[in-house]
Amino acid sequence: MPLNNRIADLADDVKLWRRDLHMNPEILYEVHRTAGVVAQKLREFGCDEVVTGLGRTGVVGVIHGNSRASGRAIGLRADMDALPIHETTGLPHASLVPGKMHACGHDGHTSMLLGAARYLTETRNFNGTAVVIFQPAEEGGAGGRAMIEDGLMDRFRIEEIFGMHNAPGLPLGWFSIRKGPILAATDNFDIVIEGRGGHAAKPHDTIDPVVVGAQIVLALQSIVARNIDPLDRCVVSVTRFQVGDAYNVIAQTCTLSGTVRTLLPVTRKNVERRMRDLAEGIAAAFGAKATVIYRTGYPVTSNHDAQTDFALDVARDVAGADRVLPDMAPIMAGEDFSYMLLERPGAFIFVGNGDSASLHHPAYDFNDEALPVGMSYWARLVETALPA
Ligand code: NI
Repeated sequence: MPLNNRIADLADDVKLWRRDLHMNPEILYEVHRTAGVVAQKLREFGCDEVVTGLGRTGVVGVIHGNSRASGRAIGLRADMDALPIHETTGLPHASLVPGKMHACGHDGHTSMLLGAARYLTETRNFNGTAVVIFQPAEEGGAGGRAMIEDGLMDRFRIEEIFGMHNAPGLPLGWFSIRKGPILAATDNFDIVIEGRGGHAAKPHDTIDPVVVGAQIVLALQSIVARNIDPLDRCVVSVTRFQVGDAYNVIAQTCTLSGTVRTLLPVTRKNVERRMRDLAEGIAAAFGAKATVIYRTGYPVTSNHDAQTDFALDVARDVAGADRVLPDMAPIMAGEDFSYMLLERPGAFIFVGNGDSASLHHPAYDFNDEALPVGMSYWARLVETALPA
């Protein structure tokens, strides 16, 4: 259900672009080919300005409407990077690069925004400026922050910012969104436990870091269960427990690693504090020493109220009111669009990918049927935010 005939016509081309990007995945900031394709297309479309190399390999296209009298500019953002995953789809357009694949659908995000840019440069049926933003390194490299640090918001006078991600499991042609926190803050931690190694047959002469580590793993589960408001949301997962080399040796040190996901700054602080208290206290009780290294990652992705209402109106225009979920549950994954929402008011929305494998799964593929839906959202958003 594309918004209009022109977008329906463009969808076939955009599908070819999407499959080309899918076959040629690139990781983090190394999105040189992808950025080259994006910049070339934006120039072909007749963007008024195309800037490359922002945030190392980011690309920005500037599209003026038929009138610029409003003096307004809004930013639309897509991500370009793939993941270090070996694709197993067996599709004709599967990744040509062993060990790399577009398993998060950023090929689709980039293609949808390119399709919208082509439509907007053709029609220019708006009053103001649309800034299309293609960022590198969403998957852990904070490429969005890098573009901000290179002056993205001020240089292009962006007043509001919008982002979109596909959602496996959400039906094709549907949208979902919520006000406030929609994706989590993503922190990582390492806990290094220093015991006293020795012969495994003489445990009484050692301080066994395995036993201390096991106590700490169990105690960390009590943070979510006992320290966090049950109506709040929080994840504390120990994902790595590294210790020892032999059957008959008690190791000297043990390292626990994992991730923390939170939706509120106060919860984020509480988890870190409780983690330090528990690890250091338990280790001390056993005569060992624990050092907690807590690394803050992406901040919470928090939608602004007015822009979420606006995005809802646009999505309802495109999809029909019964296909838009206005109060979805937050997701405990992270997004570096969060940095953009700290700079400017805006909203992040999900578009249905239908019944597909989950994100970051080797059998995942972006659903090409979603392309005209996303393109329509972007086009309608610009024409509604900047009415001609
Ligand atoms: Ni993603």
